[in-house]
Amino acid sequence: MEARVGAASVRTDLVLGSTHPLRLERPIVIASGPLGFGAEVSELIDLRDIGLFVTRGVSLAPRSGPSLPRVVEVPGGLLHAISRENPGVDEVIDRHASAWRAAPCAVAVSLVATDEKSLAALIARFESRADQVRIDAYELDLTSPSDALDGARWESALDEGVRLIDAARESTELPLIVKVSPDAASLRALAEAAADAGVTALSVSGSPIGYLPSRSRTRGALAEGVGELSGPLIRPRALAAVVSVHGALPIIGGGGIGSPADALDAFAAGAAAVSLGSALWADPGLPRAVLESARRAAAARGLSSISDLAGLALSGANERVSE
Ligand SMILES: Cc1cc2nc3c(=O)[nH]c(=O)nc-3n(C[C@H](O)[C@H](O)[C@H](O)COP(=O)(O)O)c2cc1C
Repeated sequence: MEARVGAASVRTDLVLGSTHPLRLERPIVIASGPLGFGAEVSELIDLRDIGLFVTRGVSLAPRSGPSLPRVVEVPGGLLHAISRENPGVDEVIDRHASAWRAAPCAVAVSLVATDEKSLAALIARFESRADQVRIDAYELDLTSPSDALDGARWESALDEGVRLIDAARESTELPLIVKVSPDAASLRALAEAAADAGVTALSVSGSPIGYLPSRSRTRGALAEGVGELSGPLIRPRALAAVVSVHGALPIIGGGGIGSPADALDAFAAGAAAVSLGSALWADPGLPRAVLESARRAAAARGLSSISDLAGLALSGANERVSE
């Protein structure tokens, strides 16, 4: 048996990636979207418990959203269609950059682009305003629509996804996170191509697509029918996706995490950091609870750092990761 170490002495910090590394004080990421762009977030959760806050998706030009309803409950989670609605890069910077500068955690901006040219222009816009904008990384959203794929997600075609990753990597020296969902085509090949391109981390935490026909219902369906799924119902699929990319590059794992035990599952499946999303609406104390539980789990096995929990379930010993 390993010697027990005190939970308080277990390290929480980690460095993701090597060529464009991103240092996080804690292995906890706030998922893009549910908590907005930044200005309002510190009223909802204590950012001192967080490693990285990812903003809601930002595009070069304003994007409008679909008709209401845009969020409905489904068994085990939510079906939503926000369609990356946002007021465009300049207005987001004007309203939120001061909150990013003040944040006691790292901040990543989620990039939404329907083609490579607008992606390069979007990154150039952020970098041209570097005197006002302190961001630590970009998150490239491959779950957003691509013009070349007639509005299907970038992640639905391996070559298109890789093309957008290359365009992002060529446009900036900042750390780059690539976000996908369990629906991504050829996910292992995409992860390997992302690693070769110098991507810092893969966030395997995006919403898979869902659909409910609206014509047959008076309530409980989106106006658009098709939407994105969040919450506990996606968790086993998210974990399978995390396992499938193990070892290719550092993984941020999430989708459906609602408790500290769920977060331990994501670490055990290979995540170096965990992503928390819609569960924060009901439980703003979740980041602190996850952090404390992961520290205790590491201490109980004699590990000196939470990051040592990553992939324990895959080590061949079929080890349980619990407190
Ligand atoms: C209201 C809402 C808005 C979202 N907006 C975005 C977004 O702008 N960009 C993005 O990449 N993901 C967005 N997401 C997806 C989340 O980042 C996350 O990947 C998803 O909710 C699964 O995680 P969860 O089950 O922990 O919530 C949104 C989710 C919700 C519920």
